[in-house]
Amino acid sequence: MVAGATSQVLVASNRGPVSYTRGDDGKLTAERGGGGLVSGLSAMGSEAVWVCAALGDGDREAVRRTGGTLDRADTGGQTVRMLDIPPGTFEAAYHGVANSVLWFVHHMLYQIPLEPAFDDDFVRQWEAYEAYNAAFAVALADEAEHGATVLVQDYHLTLVPTLLRERRADLRIGHFSHTPWAPPDYYRLLPDAVAAQVLRGILGADRAAFLTRRWADTFAECCARVLGAEVRGDEITYEGRTTRLGVHPLGADADFLRERAHRDDVAERMGQLCEQIGTAPDGSPRRTVVRVDRTELSKNIVRGLHAYRRLLSDRPEWRERVVHLAFAYPSRQDLAVYRDYTAEVQRVAEEINSAFATATWTPVLLHVKDDFARSLAAYRLADVALVNPIRDGMNLVAKEIPVVSDDGCALVLSREAGAYEEMAEDALVVNPFDVVATAEALRTGLELDPAERLDRTKRLSATATALPPARWLLQQLEALR
Ligand code: G6P
Repeated sequence: MVAGATSQVLVASNRGPVSYTRGDDGKLTAERGGGGLVSGLSAMGSEAVWVCAALGDGDREAVRRTGGTLDRADTGGQTVRMLDIPPGTFEAAYHGVANSVLWFVHHMLYQIPLEPAFDDDFVRQWEAYEAYNAAFAVALADEAEHGATVLVQDYHLTLVPTLLRERRADLRIGHFSHTPWAPPDYYRLLPDAVAAQVLRGILGADRAAFLTRRWADTFAECCARVLGAEVRGDEITYEGRTTRLGVHPLGADADFLRERAHRDDVAERMGQLCEQIGTAPDGSPRRTVVRVDRTELSKNIVRGLHAYRRLLSDRPEWRERVVHLAFAYPSRQDLAVYRDYTAEVQRVAEEINSAFATATWTPVLLHVKDDFARSLAAYRLADVALVNPIRDGMNLVAKEIPVVSDDGCALVLSREAGAYEEMAEDALVVNPFDVVATAEALRTGLELDPAERLDRTKRLSATATALPPARWLLQQLEALR
C-alpha cells in the first residue's frame, strides 16, 4: 500500500446497484439489482463507494433530488454516487459505442460483409464515449481518498484507468472485463486510433483482470499486435509502465441462491410451472430443457430453439414427453437489432409450437417477463440446462443451475462460454454453431442415467462455487494492494 494510504475502495460501472422508476402515481421507486458485483460488495459492508451512471429518467430524477449521492435507504446502506451525464452523450457512449461496437467486437457479432462501417456518426459517438469516460474519471478523482483502490468495470469504461491515473497518481487502479476479449484479427476491425486508445486506456490500470485465461491471453495478444507492447508472462509493459494481468473466474453465490431458491414464492412458481408442463400420456412427469438468458444476440437462443426442434423431429419418442422452458428476458431494446432478435426468438418458438403441439402438450414455453423467482423455480426443476452462447465472458446461469438443482441436471454447455474452462469435464460440451450436435447433446442429457446425472451435478456445483462473489472481489483487492 502507498504510505499513509487509506483502505477505501471505489467501484465504477455503467450500471449501478440500484435503478429508479416512476410509477403512475408519480412516486419514484428504487429497485436493487443482482449480479456478482452487487453481492461481492455487499459483503464488504458500507465502506465502499460506487460510482455509476443514471440510465434513464427515473435515475436522473433521483440524481436531481439527492444531488448525486443516493439515499442509503435505497442502496442497502451502500454509498452510491450516480452521474447524470447529458442524455445525448450517454446514449452515444452507451448504445453507440459500448453496446453496438465494443460488445459486438468482443462477442464477434458483426455480419462481416456489411458491417461494421465506421463513418462520421461513429466519430461523433466516440467523442461522446471519451466525454462519458472523462466524467467517471473526474467523479472518481473527486471521491477517492489518498491511496485508495479503484475497481473499474467493463467495456463501457475502458478509458477511465488512464484518465484517472493522469489526475491521481496515488491511486491503485484495477480494470475488470466481464466480456470475452476479441482475438487480434477481429479486434482490428476497430479504427486504428480507437483500437489503440482502448488498450492504452486499460493499460493505465495496475491490473487488467478477466474472467478466464483465454480472454486475458487475447487481450495481451492485442496489446502486442496493436501497440507493440512487451508481453512477458502476466506482465504487459508499454511506454515505461507495467500492467499485470489477472484471472478471476467469478463463481455462483451458493448461500444466497440456496436460501433464495427455497422461499415460498419460488415454491409457488414451481407449482405453476409444473401445471404448465403437465404430464406425459403415460402419466409420468414430463422432462424439461431449461434456458434462462437476457434476450441477447450472443446467447444463441434461436439456434437453441432449432436444436430443440430437431430433437422433436428426429426423435419422435420424445414428443409429448419433454417441454422446453425458454426464459428470454428483454435487454437493450433501444437497439433495433435486439428488437429484431427478440421477434425472431418469438417467431421460431411459435413455429415449433404450431408444428408439434397437441391438445395437451405445448413443446416450448417461452416466457419473456423477467421474474427471478420463476427463474429459480425452473433451475430447481431442470432436467437439462441449455447454455449455448456464441461467446460469453463467463455465463453464470451455467454455474447457478447445478447449485440449486433438486434432482440433478445435465448441462449442455457451449465451448465458447468462459464457464467451459472450469466445467467442461462434467458438462455435455457443444460447438454453439452446430445445431445437429446440440440436438444430440440435448438427447444425451435427457437420457443420462439419473445417478450419473446427480454425480455430475454435484461436481459441477462444487466447481461453480469455488470462487463466490465476496472472495472474487477480495482476491482482486489483495492482488492490487
Ligand atoms: C453484461 C455486461 C454488464 C452489463 C450486463 C447487462 O453482463 O458485462 O456490464 O451490465 O451485460 O447489460 P445492460 O446493457 O443492460 O447493462
